[in-house]
Amino acid sequence: MTLDAKILSMLREADETGITSASLATKTGSNAAAVSQRVVELCRLGYDIESTPHLGYRFLSAPDLLHADDLVSRLSPNRIVGRDIQVFQETSSTNDVVEKLARDGVAEGVVVFAESQTKGRGRMGRKWLSPPGRGLWFSVLLRPLMPPSSVTQLTIAAATAVARAVRVETGLALQIKWPNDILIHGKKAVGILTELSAELDQVRYVVIGIGVDVNITEFPAELAEIATSLSAAAGKNFIRAEIAAAILRELDTDYARVTRGEFAALAEEWEQQCVTLGQRVQIHIGDRTVAGRAESLDNDGALLLRTDYGHLERIVGGDVVLEK
Ligand code: BTN
Repeated sequence: MTLDAKILSMLREADETGITSASLATKTGSNAAAVSQRVVELCRLGYDIESTPHLGYRFLSAPDLLHADDLVSRLSPNRIVGRDIQVFQETSSTNDVVEKLARDGVAEGVVVFAESQTKGRGRMGRKWLSPPGRGLWFSVLLRPLMPPSSVTQLTIAAATAVARAVRVETGLALQIKWPNDILIHGKKAVGILTELSAELDQVRYVVIGIGVDVNITEFPAELAEIATSLSAAAGKNFIRAEIAAAILRELDTDYARVTRGEFAALAEEWEQQCVTLGQRVQIHIGDRTVAGRAESLDNDGALLLRTDYGHLERIVGGDVVLEK
C-alpha cells in the first residue's frame, strides 16, 4: 500500500474521533512531516481532511473522483481482484489496456479504471457511452484455471457481484437479464463485456469489462428508451468510489467462489434476480434467431432454452429479447 492509501484507510477507520498526527505517522510507518505533506496533497485533490494542531486529523469527505490509492484504501489486504489498481483520465477502452497487460504477463487481479473512454465498446460490436466522471468504466484481469467453455461462470459471477454491490450501496431494486445486463425498471444501467484468450482446453486470461451508468443525467435519443443510470433511478447522485470499491469487494468474493467450485450457490443467487428465466424469449446469435422458453442455467452458466421445436438448446452468448 502506498502512503496515501494507508493515510486514507487509517483516517476512515478513525472516523469522527480523528487521529493524532503522531499516531497516524506510527500506524503508517512514516513520519509526521511526510504525513502532513501527503495530507496537503490529498486536500489539493479535493479530499476534505480537517487538521488541528493538537487533535490531529479528521476525515470529512472525499471528492467524486477515482483515485487508485483511495480505492485501495477501501479494500481488504488479502484480495485478488483489485490487487493492483490503475486509473486513467482517458483511454480508448479499459478492456484494451487490460488485454495488453495480460499479454505482457501481468498477474491476475489488476483492475484498470478510466474516467472516460474514447472507444468504449459493448457486446455485439456496439459502442458503449463512457462520458467523463459520470460512470464506472473498468476492466479486471483474471487467469482462472478453467476450460473456455466454463467462462460464462465468470460472467454470471460478475453480474451477481455487481448487482449485490449496487443494491447494497444504492437500495435500488435491480434485475439481471441473461447473461449479464443489469436493469432498473426494465432499462439497462450496467453492461458487462467478457473477452478471453484461450488454448483448446485452458483459459490463458479473461478480461471482464464493466460499465456502470452511475450519475448520467441525459442519454442520446437512441438510448433514452433503453438505458438508465443509478442517479436517474434513485433521484440523487452517488459517490462513484464507494460503488466502485463495493463492486471490487463483491467481485473478489464471487471470483473466489467460482475458483473454489461453488458456482451452484452463485447461480442460485443469480437466478433469483433474473428476469429471463421462465420467460418466452428470442435470442439473436449472429444472423440466427432461436425462440423458446428460457428454462435454467447449466453448470457452466450457459442458458438452457426449450425451443419451439421442443429441443433443449444450450446457449452461451447472444442478444436476448423478452417476448411480451
Ligand atoms: C454490454 O454491451 O452490455 C457490455 C458493455 C461493457 C462496457 C464496459 S465499460 C469498461 C469496459 N471497456 C469497454 O470498452 N467496455 C467495457
